[in-house]
Amino acid sequence: MTATTPANKTLSRTRDQQVGLPARRAAANLLDAVLQKKQPLDDVLGRVRDGAMFDLPTRDRALARAIVGTSLRHKGQIDRVLETFLERGLPARAGTLYPILLSGAAQILFMNVPPHAAIDLAVRLAQWDPRAKRYDKLVNAVLRRVSEKGAGIADALDVSRTNTPDWLWDRWVRTWGEDRTRAIADAQLVEPPLDLTVTGDPEKWAAELGGKILPTGSVRLLPKGRIEGLPGFTEGAWWVQDAAASIPAQLLRDIAGKRVADLCAAPGGKTAQLAAAGATVTAVDLSKARLARVEENLARLGLAAQTIAADATTWQPEAPFDAVLLDAPCSSTGTIRRHPDVPYLKSDKDIAELATLQSRLLDNAVTLLKPGGTLVYSTCSLEPEEGEAQIAALLARNESLRIEPLRADEPFGNTEWAEASGVLRTFPYQLQLDSPEWSGMDGFFAARLVRPS
Ligand SMILES: C[S@@+](CC[C@H](N)C(=O)[O-])C[C@H]1O[C@@H](n2cnc3c(N)ncnc32)[C@H](O)[C@@H]1O
Repeated sequence: MTATTPANKTLSRTRDQQVGLPARRAAANLLDAVLQKKQPLDDVLGRVRDGAMFDLPTRDRALARAIVGTSLRHKGQIDRVLETFLERGLPARAGTLYPILLSGAAQILFMNVPPHAAIDLAVRLAQWDPRAKRYDKLVNAVLRRVSEKGAGIADALDVSRTNTPDWLWDRWVRTWGEDRTRAIADAQLVEPPLDLTVTGDPEKWAAELGGKILPTGSVRLLPKGRIEGLPGFTEGAWWVQDAAASIPAQLLRDIAGKRVADLCAAPGGKTAQLAAAGATVTAVDLSKARLARVEENLARLGLAAQTIAADATTWQPEAPFDAVLLDAPCSSTGTIRRHPDVPYLKSDKDIAELATLQSRLLDNAVTLLKPGGTLVYSTCSLEPEEGEAQIAALLARNESLRIEPLRADEPFGNTEWAEASGVLRTFPYQLQLDSPEWSGMDGFFAARLVRPS
């Protein structure tokens, strides 16, 4: 056995820290893109040439994503801690200084990273950024104080309130009341599990993947490693889809042999469900690039659908459909567990603009139905303008349409997922299993409407 001398101790510590540096650099770049440049996290992660995540080994990539997720989920608490120690506030034009402090504090306060390592790496990151480098001593001093006193400050805060930006807190309290708002805010603090929709036997895949079967028929796992490496991915046995997102397509009930239009279809989770249920599917999306992903996903799953790049506010087919699914673009506030960047990217103004687009999409969707046809409208939003109010306005514009309420066995006998009017409304704090890591679902709205014969 080799004796560990102080010299080689230092060497191995240095090597460990160098190993950790690319992940930290990627995390700071990603946070900079989201919070300072207002770019959606998934877009930045998907841009292969971006450099932020390029060439990172899988383990570093997972660590970078975990740091970004933790920083965003606890951003309110961390900001309050940093403010306490930044006596003169954050200097202006300091490059990535803020993301470096935010991610450094996230590691110390919420990820059990030894403070000396988190601080050392943060100082190096600052030294590497030409605009932040004159603040390397500030990074050192502030993060040292975070490690000494930060936890006490962070824990004493009203956690649900502090981590929710005012605009969302105010609108959720107005719409859902304070208790539900707190429950939504708390659900977003936990990294969500991975939900899969399987084409075959859920029991078999739950056993093979070490997962649990949910009431929706989905298989739930705790995420580890690359999704592409999991059994069943290559042979197309399943696709990733939150349990709540799997409900709207199922509200069309028996669609085998029917012609179904899937409007706003990409990346195609619902297209795959419709095709797997035996429908003849036409998938429409405005984005050619995103439709290419639908085609790729269907090919992997051994499923088929016709894909059409078109604007669904005006698109008209040659013949009307038995059923239409409109999963409209929305603010995505129901997906905050999976997209902790949403609270920092969206605003009241976006919701108003999206609501206008949704009503135009709905008006056109209605014209695509055969008499007696069924329309399911869904959004992954917690905002009534994109759900309940949208349907109320549609019904007021179309006297011939009516809601077909969810039946007693829908959705899967979970009456707490339905509103009295017979529409679906789920919340991120629902679907509680044994522990927080296994729990939760996206906040979804869906209404089933029929055009009488
Ligand atoms: C919520 S995502 C759909 C998710 C998809 N239904 C699924 O389950 O995988 C919204 C989609 O609407 C598309 N979109 C936005 N505006 C559109 C329009 N005017 N016409 C057609 N598609 C549109 C976007 O390109 C995006 O792919």
